[in-house]
Amino acid sequence: MILQFDFNMAEWKYKWWQKTTVYQIYPRSFKDSTGNGIGDLQGIISKLDYLEELGIETIWFSPFFDSPQQDHGYDIRDFRSIAPEYGTLKDFNQLLKEMHDRNMKMVLDFVLNHTSIDHPWFIESASSRDNPKRNWYIWRDGKKSGGRKPPNNWTTMTGGCAWLYYENTDQWVYFHFLPSMIDLNYRNPEVKEEMFNTMRFWLDKGVDGFRLDILHAIYEDEHLINDKFSWTIIPSDKKVDTLFHKHKYDLNLPETFDFALELREVMDEYEPERFLVGEVFGSIEEIKKYYGPNNNGLHMCFLFEFASTPFDPKKYISLLSRIEKALPFPFTPTFVYGNHDIDRYISLLKNNFHKAKILATMQLTLRGVPFIYYGEKIGMPNVRFKLKTSEDPIGRKFSWFPMPQLSRLIGFSLTRDRCRTPMQWNNEKNAGFSSNIEIEPWLKVSDTFEKINVEKEQKNPASLLNCYKRLLKVRKENIALQEGELQLIENEKLERTYISYTRGHKTQKIFIYLNFTKKELLIKTPIEKPELLFSTLSNRKGIDTEAYNGNIKLTPLEGIIFKKNKK
Ligand code: NOJ
Repeated sequence: MILQFDFNMAEWKYKWWQKTTVYQIYPRSFKDSTGNGIGDLQGIISKLDYLEELGIETIWFSPFFDSPQQDHGYDIRDFRSIAPEYGTLKDFNQLLKEMHDRNMKMVLDFVLNHTSIDHPWFIESASSRDNPKRNWYIWRDGKKSGGRKPPNNWTTMTGGCAWLYYENTDQWVYFHFLPSMIDLNYRNPEVKEEMFNTMRFWLDKGVDGFRLDILHAIYEDEHLINDKFSWTIIPSDKKVDTLFHKHKYDLNLPETFDFALELREVMDEYEPERFLVGEVFGSIEEIKKYYGPNNNGLHMCFLFEFASTPFDPKKYISLLSRIEKALPFPFTPTFVYGNHDIDRYISLLKNNFHKAKILATMQLTLRGVPFIYYGEKIGMPNVRFKLKTSEDPIGRKFSWFPMPQLSRLIGFSLTRDRCRTPMQWNNEKNAGFSSNIEIEPWLKVSDTFEKINVEKEQKNPASLLNCYKRLLKVRKENIALQEGELQLIENEKLERTYISYTRGHKTQKIFIYLNFTKKELLIKTPIEKPELLFSTLSNRKGIDTEAYNGNIKLTPLEGIIFKKNKK
């Protein structure tokens, strides 16, 4: 029996952004061309040939704008200039041109929720109550006598009071993430206008899209209603509650869903089409609101549940079914296993590269846009760092915490340094990350670099890197994998051992079978003479169903892609 999802694509003209593949670069860790231990734009430019050869279509860059770097670029001081440690606007223009020359698209990280505390706007705003920029941020009087208590009980995403007191004006200012980054006030039309114009500034240069940082935090309740107690400690994909606190009045407000529509209008001023991907948290049903009632909001949002789903076919099937139900075609889902904030998935898989290949096959053959984090393709693992000396401000904030015990208990890490280590290019000192082998990179290189690096994996046909490369190629060459309707094939073993689904397009139907077990599986072939398009095993030659009584044999932890052979 076939599980039919409810969508009709007969008339739809697929847009480029609905079927692209995105690679995320964390500029600080990608490639250092100047030899100062910090990655930079020229370093990235020097690796574009490699990315093109791999088959990457779109690159999203974590922020490289001017910043005091207290949160490594997510604390922006000037939205329209490049941080000198990364390069100049001239380097940016060159990067964009070189990408476009290679037919690649560029997505910038737009941190519109807050600015650095060092941003001139904030410095002005904090200087006096009647400064013209005062209302660009959210200032309020405190409570109780002398106003020495914060205006309400809101807490930040990283825990603790969300208000900062300024004695000179005897008022509190609101921030949702860290006190070095203060929230902009989007109820002020001047702020909106300025930020929309900033988008236009980059779009005019030819940028193809934006990733919107913590967009769900843009608006807060105007009347500052107190939030209630929650039993939740760690936020999850389903719930934004954090550290015993609900976030009903500071996250995912109706005004924020409407704001997504306004952002879309700015994007729609441009041709060819550009796209927005939102970093928003909540249940899939809540996230859907950002897509807009008529798919006229954000083009897509990150769905992070994949990154925390255990390697269990039953769990993936249930997640996929929920996604297809909430975001049927033409809504565009996304598939994310990692980014600069979360542990690397290869470590969650206990460095099992066969499992990683199964997940990569799934990621690149489902309906939607895959986001691949740098280093993921070669299987770069997490690296342990001490909280006290952590580069990540969140790590330092929690340095009092007994981290090893904590990570073991709940599998959660408090320093994001773990997943941000320098890219492992080769087996030279510093893994080829820096042009200066004597320099200590800003974060230490994983000591796995001699075994896990690009140069080595390029030479090995069975490597994870080559598996991704072959997958990207199959995806590019087969329209059904880009535009095809998704159908899960139900089978008696579906819940326990393997996942199978098809992608069907007018002219093509493609089958994907993924064996999640360490055992061989014999599965009745759904078509005569299946033609092999891909296997996670680099040396599989074809599919011989005659040898197995009309069955397809899957070896342990093997994923295959095939289609009907017309001959
Ligand atoms: C989410 C980003 O992914 C994270 O790295 C950053 O620290 C916060 N937003 C604050 O901008």
